[in-house]
Amino acid sequence: MSSLQNSLLTDYTSMDKIHVNDVLSIEYESYNYPWPEKIFYDCIDNNYLCRVLVLNSCVIGYVISSIVLDECHVMNLCIKKKFRSLGYGGYLLSELHNEIKKLDCRVIFLECRPSNASALSLYKNAGYNEVGLRKNYYPVSNGHEDALILAKYVQE
Ligand SMILES: CC(C)(COP(=O)(O)OP(=O)(O)OC[C@H]1O[C@@H](n2cnc3c(N)ncnc32)[C@H](O)[C@@H]1OP(=O)(O)O)[C@@H](O)C(=O)NCCC(=O)NCCS
Repeated sequence: MSSLQNSLLTDYTSMDKIHVNDVLSIEYESYNYPWPEKIFYDCIDNNYLCRVLVLNSCVIGYVISSIVLDECHVMNLCIKKKFRSLGYGGYLLSELHNEIKKLDCRVIFLECRPSNASALSLYKNAGYNEVGLRKNYYPVSNGHEDALILAKYVQE
């Protein structure tokens, strides 16, 4: 599905507390180490940039970021399993880029597991570059996995 079709069909909007149940069910189907409910409420209460992608009144994805001065850090980005590989992840990310550009952000950072092929492909396609490595950042069943740090200038 093209980004244009996604923009016509979906609503990129602020995450509200009424969205948290839907968000949590996506979080739990997506990660082995999901965020607990409290973190989502805390992010909303503490004015993190919390956004959802809504299709026909259903939340199909979300992104949570923090902004400090002219830097944005994406902390969580997720698309509901049955809506993946349809372009929604790319659309959600492009909407975030458009929004933070208007907030005068200069650069956006995120961490990604080297084993997460779909996410890495999404970010590389969106113009991110590897800028570093955080050792032992993510938990895995037999220890920890490093995180790639990716970044992109958003004002280009
Ligand atoms: C990563 C994620 C957000 C991608 O969302 P999505 O809606 O499937 O992504 P899109 O359909 O927009 O695809 C974006 C790119 O990713 C690539 N991609 C999508 N699914 C893929 C897969 N299973 N394997 C490899 N690449 C894949 C495609 O190549 C696509 O590139 P294209 O635009 O050239 O076709 C989604 O897989 C997800 O929610 N994963 C679980 C949570 C997660 O890992 N979040 C990221 C944490 S860093």
